[in-house]
Amino acid sequence: MKFGKKDWIFVVLILAVLGIFYAISGEEKTKKVPLDDTHRQFYDMLKAGKKKIEVDPLCIQCHDGVKIPFPANHPVKPEGGPMRCLFCHKTHKK
Ligand code: HEC
Ligand code: HEC
Repeated sequence: MKFGKKDWIFVVLILAVLGIFYAISGEEKTKKVPLDDTHRQFYDMLKAGKKKIEVDPLCIQCHDGVKIPFPANHPVKPEGGPMRCLFCHKTHKK
């Protein structure tokens, strides 16, 4: 059997699907916003219809890198501009 152009398209398609699975599983590994007394207020805000981008700036009150330090390998730092916390740290489903 000859390995033609159609076969290559098939291989690329499979790799793309695997790549998407990998990307999704990577995102799931990022710690979720704890569903505790400290963070419940943010769950309530989101439930009340506030946008994630409106809630993000409130996290820095505590997570300013000093009161609660970020891990050394944290992908973004507070001084690096707006922190879209909820873009990476998802909320628990309930
Ligand atoms: C009133 C202070 C305060 C605010 C505001 C706050 N946090 Fe936290 N956060 C904490 C404390 C304290 C901890 C560590 C203890 C814990 O897990 O509750 C923590 C832990 C975390 C963790 C790590 C959870 C884990 O599993 O290790 C994440 C993620 C997080 N917060 C995200 C957020 C996000 C996103 C916001 C804004 C929507 C936010 N926090 C706002 C105090 C705060
Ligand atoms: C670009 C994605 C991204 C953004 C934006 C982001 N984080 Fe993170 N954060 C991560 C990753 C990745 C880790 C390390 C893996 C983990 O522990 O979840 C992490 C770790 C943390 C931890 C430590 C969790 C632990 O191990 O105890 C806290 C707390 C935290 N982030 C809070 C925040 C807060 C608050 C903001 C917004 C001010 C924020 N992050 C913005 C990706 C992000």
